[in-house]
Amino acid sequence: MLGYMTDFTVFPLLDVQRLTMLFGGLTAVDDVSFQAFDRQITAIIGPNGAGKTTLFNCLTGFYRPTSGALLLHRGGTTVDLAGKPAHVNARLGIARTFQNIRLFANMTVLENLLVAQHRSQMAASVYSFAGMLGLPSWKRAERAAIEKARLWLERLRLVDVADRLAGELSYGMQRRLEIARAMCTDPCLLCLDEPAAGLNPSEAVMLRQTIALIRDEYKTGVLLIEHNMNVVMEISDHVFVLDYGERIAAGTPQKIRNDPVVIRAYLGEPEEGAA
Ligand SMILES: Nc1ncnc2c1ncn2[C@@H]1O[C@H](COP(=O)(O)OP(=O)(O)OP(=O)(O)O)[C@@H](O)[C@H]1O
Ligand SMILES: [Mg+2]
Repeated sequence: MLGYMTDFTVFPLLDVQRLTMLFGGLTAVDDVSFQAFDRQITAIIGPNGAGKTTLFNCLTGFYRPTSGALLLHRGGTTVDLAGKPAHVNARLGIARTFQNIRLFANMTVLENLLVAQHRSQMAASVYSFAGMLGLPSWKRAERAAIEKARLWLERLRLVDVADRLAGELSYGMQRRLEIARAMCTDPCLLCLDEPAAGLNPSEAVMLRQTIALIRDEYKTGVLLIEHNMNVVMEISDHVFVLDYGERIAAGTPQKIRNDPVVIRAYLGEPEEGAA
């Protein structure tokens, strides 16, 4: 006989509650709620201007939302990310890539990956110059940073270009480097803003495999903004749809693919009298 009750409630990794973001008179995100889970890929889709990037900017501390909560549940604690500065949200394990690539173009590929990890190295030096010069923990942190960079260079097939300037890489390689850089910070939630944009079909297939690997091997939650429906439908566990800042649908890829509301938002209403 069971003498006790066990609580099997699964907390989401991220619980977005009634998020609203106004820019003057424009409501870019309108009372949006959704959840994202550990080890799952949650896609955010919607037409241009729907509010997808604005949502990421709120989540990563680039914008302070007008209202609502962005609850991160981790290790038995809950933190509201709303309104916290970008460096705090990064330290809490939120990493992102940008719709318009933002790398250090005049640094090498390897340097981009090491700079991303400076925080853990600074912590190892106890934030002092003397510590940085002498402490064995600094040396250890430096070795660990190089080792992690090497791992992600391999994972994203960038080893051969490790010493090239980031700005000289092809577009597809720069997109891969952005993902490597984000993963070097050991995030719990990886936010990808249109990672397939500008990729050719074979690069898009590789991207799909990389994102699935990050979910499965690194146990990371992934939020994926993407217009490439092949990528979205192939790898997402959940999809939620924004239109004019509002959530208009949510569900499995299969459900979303056949949802007339979603189809209408993407294709528009047929014109009166049109054949
Ligand atoms: N900093 C800002 N100031 C004023 N308006 C903004 C700002 N950022 C975004 N907007 C507006 O908010 C709305 C949502 O923009 P957002 O970039 O979030 O859309 P999106 O869904 O990412 O679109 P896309 O698919 O084209 O990238 C748009 O009308 C946009 O012009
Ligand atoms: Mg966008």
